[in-house]
Amino acid sequence: MNIHSINTHMSKTILITGSSTGIGRATATYFANHGWKVAATMRTPEKESELQTHENIEVFRLDVTDQHSIDAAIASTIEAFGKIDVVLNNAGYGTAGPFEAATKDQVKRQFDTNLFGLFDVTRAALPHFRERKSGLFINISSIGGLVTLPTFSLYHSTKWAVEGFSESLAYELRPLGIHVKLVEPGGVSTDFAGRSLDFLQKEGLTDYDPTIQKITALFSDPERSLSYSSGEQIAEVIFEAATDGKTQLRYLAGDDAKEFWAGRQQLGDDAFHGMITERFLGEG
Ligand SMILES: NC(=O)c1ccc[n+]([C@@H]2O[C@H](COP(=O)([O-])OP(=O)(O)OC[C@H]3O[C@@H](n4cnc5c(N)ncnc54)[C@H](OP(=O)(O)O)[C@@H]3O)[C@@H](O)[C@H]2O)c1
Repeated sequence: MNIHSINTHMSKTILITGSSTGIGRATATYFANHGWKVAATMRTPEKESELQTHENIEVFRLDVTDQHSIDAAIASTIEAFGKIDVVLNNAGYGTAGPFEAATKDQVKRQFDTNLFGLFDVTRAALPHFRERKSGLFINISSIGGLVTLPTFSLYHSTKWAVEGFSESLAYELRPLGIHVKLVEPGGVSTDFAGRSLDFLQKEGLTDYDPTIQKITALFSDPERSLSYSSGEQIAEVIFEAATDGKTQLRYLAGDDAKEFWAGRQQLGDDAFHGMITERFLGEG
C-alpha cells in the first residue's frame, strides 16, 4: 500500500466548535456515525460525559474568545487524528431587542463570539490547511445572514459579516486548495431561542414596546415552530457540504430558509422589505 492509498483510506477528520448542544452536538454525532473522526470542542468539556464514549469522538476545550484554547484544541486534534480535513465554525448565540438598548459590552460580546471568534479559529487552522494544500471551512451563518427581521440587528450584522468574509475568503483560498462553504439554517429546535438569546432591554425605553410585542407574538406562535428543522436535519446538510465535492458556496438548510430566500429573490429588495414590514410590524 503506497502513501496515497493510505491517505485515501484514512478517516476524514472534522473539528467542530460549540459541540455541547444543538447543531454542533448533532453534527458531531452524525459525522462520527458516518465514520469520520470528530474533535467535538466546547467551552466546558468537564460537563460532557456522553460524546467521548463514541469511538470516533474526542472532546477538547475550545472557547472561541480564547486564542490559547483555540491553538491547543487544534494541536490536540492533529495529535489525536493526524490531520484536520474540515473545520466547522458553529459556535454562536443571538442578541434580540432594540439596538438602542444594547450596551457596548453586549455589542462586543456578540461580535467577539460570532465573528472575531470565527476569524481566530479560521486563522489558527490555516497553516495546517496550507501545509496539506487542502481543507474545508464550513461556516454556520443563518438565513439571517441573507435577510433581516426587526430587533435582531446585532445578530444579523455578525452573520452578514460572516457571509462577506466567507465569500471573499473562498476566492482567496481556492488557489491554495482550501475551500470555504456557508450553511444557512432557518429556524432550528435548539437552545438558541432559549439560553442562547441575550435580550436587550433598557429601563424606561418603552417606545419600542409595540414592535417587541408584535415580534414576540409572531415568534411564540406554536405554528411557527412546526416549520423548524431539527439539529440532525442541519447536520445532514453540513455532511452534504463536507462530502459533495462541489465548489458551491451557500447551502440553505431547512424548508423555511429555502422558502424565505426564494421569496426574497422573487420579490426583489423593496417588495421584500414591504412584505417584512407588513408581516412583522403590521404596516402596509
Ligand atoms: N437555532 C437556530 O434557530 C439557528 C438558526 C440559524 C443559525 N443558527 C446558528 O447555529 C449555530 C449553533 O446554534 P444552535 O442553534 O445549535 O444553538 P445552541 O444549542 O444554543 O448552541 C450554541 C453553541 O455555541 C456555543 N458557544 C457559545 N459561545 C461560545 C464560545 N465563546 N466558545 C465556544 N462555544 C460557544 C455554546 O456553548 P456553551 O454550551 O458553552 O454555551 C453552544 O454549544 C450558531 O452559530 C447560530 O447562530 C441557529
